[in-house]
Amino acid sequence: MSESITIRRPDDWHVHLRDGAMLEAVVPYTARQFARAIVMPNLTPPVTTVAAAQAYRERIRAAVPDGMTFEPLMTCYLTDNTDPEELRRGFEQGVFTAAKLYPAGATTNSDSGVTDVTNIRQALEAMAGIGMPLCVHGEVTSDDIDIFDREAVFIEHILAPLLDDLPQLKVIFEHITTSEAVAFVERAGERVAATITPQHLHINRNAMLVGGIRPHAYCLPVAKREAHRLELRRAATSGSPKFFLGTDSAPHERHAKESACGCAGIFNAPFALESYLAVFEEEGALEHFEGFASLHGPAFYNLPVNEETVTLERRAHDVMDRIEIADTELVPFHAGQSLDWRFAG
Ligand code: DOR
Ligand code: ZN
Repeated sequence: MSESITIRRPDDWHVHLRDGAMLEAVVPYTARQFARAIVMPNLTPPVTTVAAAQAYRERIRAAVPDGMTFEPLMTCYLTDNTDPEELRRGFEQGVFTAAKLYPAGATTNSDSGVTDVTNIRQALEAMAGIGMPLCVHGEVTSDDIDIFDREAVFIEHILAPLLDDLPQLKVIFEHITTSEAVAFVERAGERVAATITPQHLHINRNAMLVGGIRPHAYCLPVAKREAHRLELRRAATSGSPKFFLGTDSAPHERHAKESACGCAGIFNAPFALESYLAVFEEEGALEHFEGFASLHGPAFYNLPVNEETVTLERRAHDVMDRIEIADTELVPFHAGQSLDWRFAG
């Protein structure tokens, strides 16, 4: 049994860092483990311009503790009115790494999102032309589609036709939660990849609903049946370069989650690598951990791999129930549980 594991320093290909006091509180957790991260643009107001992304990037850099190196990779929030020239300019200047498609109403701060993909056809065409990747929140939002079916319906009605229409467009199907998504990504060409969160590898929908309603297990897309979780675990640990790490760490204050209408999002940044590593060990796939965490993402985004390494040690520890920040609290993923591995730097 290995007692420690050393891999190239990983990146987080999907994270919510927020802004203001919350940003300052959460950035150190991500910067501690990851060299770079694709930063989600769903602030209020959303990050829709090059200038807004540059300013946000500076606020993130300012929140990185001394002695840590961390590079935020910015994304542009697509709206029905996104100007293709703004995307082109931001990408060519190295400000935007990718653009993010939120179907309007799909999740937190997505009200300004896209109401119909035909409205952003020109923007997507421009992205395909310059090799700018599209990050996708893959859920339809219509009232008549059951929330547990929204990802599968999105594949059939939106994603598959979009990829047929724009054969050059690079797409990251983010935080996939279903066996349909795994199968779709596996069958799609090389320009399609997916990120997988730690929570969707660890929990199914029972974790949210059995024995009481558990708001800290609620995120979007919502966790599905056990059969889907098992497919996600198979895909993540398979060694396929189409699947890579994206935590979707999404902090909300404790009171905003423990509420009659609780917010979606799981704050997993404090023990993200430990959480993923537990899955790879349980699946007997430690040899594929570095690919998933540190190699497949850079390859897909055409970025260099990180030169430094990080080490995790086998050292069981209990995850705290709460983290106090500023004048509020966050509840981390795995709160109150024990994890076998510990990030050692
Ligand atoms: O659970 C989620 N939380 N899913 C998302 O897509 C957004 C995120 C957030 O920003 O809180
Ligand atoms: Zn997200």
